[in-house]
Amino acid sequence: MNFITIAKQRCSIRSYTGTKVEPEKLEKILEAAHVAPTAANLQPVRLIVVQSEEGLAKIGQACNIYGAPLAVIVCTDHDKAWVRPFDKKQTGDIDASILTDHMMLQATELGLGTVWVCYFKPDVLKKEFALPANLEAVNILAIGYADEEPASPDRHDQTRIPVSQLVSYDTL
Ligand SMILES: Cc1cc2nc3c(=O)[nH]c(=O)nc-3n(C[C@H](O)[C@H](O)[C@H](O)COP(=O)(O)O)c2cc1C
Repeated sequence: MNFITIAKQRCSIRSYTGTKVEPEKLEKILEAAHVAPTAANLQPVRLIVVQSEEGLAKIGQACNIYGAPLAVIVCTDHDKAWVRPFDKKQTGDIDASILTDHMMLQATELGLGTVWVCYFKPDVLKKEFALPANLEAVNILAIGYADEEPASPDRHDQTRIPVSQLVSYDTL
């Protein structure tokens, strides 16, 4: 599958079968995260892979992952992330999100469903997974086999703003 086909096919899945994600597929998803770029290659990121019943129950206290059998908590390390000197903007969230997107698209290519979750209680995650002060959970990527009809790959004309509103050339 070429890139744009995968990107169009990807959609948020909010119902999963009980089927576990095969270890070799998880390995490819994590490899996609591993090769992702980060600012200044500082790699201020940590991934917590959660598959156990106990771990999933802990995530369940913080958010809804729609019954997915696998979730990756994507954390940024505020002690390592690059800071732009001009305005002190830290790019850790961006780095974490690039890894998340790489994993999400790799999972799509492997025939898996995903949903990106930010609607979680950060304090609960921090406590349940004993995150040190420098680590912040930025995203959770829920992964599994879809138990719902995937959205059409041709939906974006209806579900996204027109390209003409998104893009301008040379001036805003
Ligand atoms: C940064 C981010 C945060 C999101 N958080 C959630 C979330 O907490 N719960 C959820 O069900 N979907 C969440 N989503 C999924 C979006 O709602 C979804 O991507 C968007 O509606 C477009 O639909 P599509 O993914 O099917 O194309 C999130 C997506 C992004 C990119």
